[in-house]
Amino acid sequence: ILVTGGAGYIGSHVVKQLLEETNHKITIIDNLSTGSIKTVNTLKEIAKHVNKENNLSFIEADLSNFSLIEGIFKAKNFDAVIHFAASIVVPESVKNPIKYYMNNTVNTTNLIKLCIENNVNKFIFSSTAAVYGEPDEIPVRETTPTNPINPYGMSKLMSENVLKDCGIAYKDFKYIILRYFNVAGADIKIRIGQRFPNATHLIKVAAETAVGKRDKIYIFGTDYPTKDGTCIRDFIHVDDLADAHIKALDYLTENNKSNIFNCGYGKGYSVLEVINTMKEVSGVDFKVEITGRREGDPAILIADNTKIKEEMNWQPKYDDLKIICKTALEWEKKLLSES
Ligand SMILES: NC(=O)c1ccc[n+]([C@@H]2O[C@H](COP(=O)([O-])OP(=O)(O)OC[C@H]3O[C@@H](n4cnc5c(N)ncnc54)[C@H](O)[C@@H]3O)[C@@H](O)[C@H]2O)c1
Repeated sequence: ILVTGGAGYIGSHVVKQLLEETNHKITIIDNLSTGSIKTVNTLKEIAKHVNKENNLSFIEADLSNFSLIEGIFKAKNFDAVIHFAASIVVPESVKNPIKYYMNNTVNTTNLIKLCIENNVNKFIFSSTAAVYGEPDEIPVRETTPTNPINPYGMSKLMSENVLKDCGIAYKDFKYIILRYFNVAGADIKIRIGQRFPNATHLIKVAAETAVGKRDKIYIFGTDYPTKDGTCIRDFIHVDDLADAHIKALDYLTENNKSNIFNCGYGKGYSVLEVINTMKEVSGVDFKVEITGRREGDPAILIADNTKIKEEMNWQPKYDDLKIICKTALEWEKKLLSES
């Protein structure tokens, strides 16, 4: 299995589960732009621990190097691709859309092309709730109209469309699109987690503030039409999300059918609730500053997860805000002890 972006946050948790729970041989391709060699080394240790060191290989390469990636496809004979590699920061995508369309759409299209040319017929794609933009219905269903409001979301939706068209044109080619909501937390055993500095994800930022890496956390807007005025999001623990990928692989093997699934818990917590939970699990009453709304933040974003539960039999194990905050916090402490 080719895992692009396997040295990054979510990809590394999927590689960990593939190693621990399956016998697949895994090749990670990553350019280490936001991923880390330390994460790869930890994955190698995990592989060794479960006596599968031969099941993991790592190639440092950029997906934009089409001839190199083609050579890897020819050499490796992949059965499936799980494609995480992408640029993921929304405000950056507004300032530098070309970067996002090149990395997220052009490189993905090339990867799909290589799959089709080399008879690799299973493709799992990391998509995002950002494809829905500011949806008209909550909870958001897979059939809710897509209407991205920034280049990041659009670059992902364009890749979804390439997959859909290729699924129609090439009858053997099957894909699963997973639309993640707000991914958070760290490996339940705190071996891997989100390493990249300057994160914008709320729970990561709250954990960084709790351990003193930041002196305060900002709340962007307290005048939304929600119970406490702050935005509400559906936070999913990264290990539960990783499990959805293992299920997606099984689904493709068993059903040989393309599909789209939302990945979330189907319930939301407000920004204020998250901050208070992080304060509670850390025992630190860190400073919070209220500032104005950010453009393009919908008030409420919650997944309808009926489909993934019913059709893939996905059952979350860590559907608990305290567990999510606690693992994020413990991971942040671990990072602090490294430095
Ligand atoms: N984190 C979230 O909350 C979230 C939500 C929705 C969707 N997603 C999607 O999940 C996927 C993974 O996100 P993440 O949070 O793990 O981010 P991440 O930045 O930690 O991981 C991305 C990985 O891809 C690598 N990469 C990027 N461009 C590359 C290229 N051109 N060639 C080779 N490697 C490259 C990076 O080095 C990194 O290791 C992305 O596709 C993202 O759009 C994430």
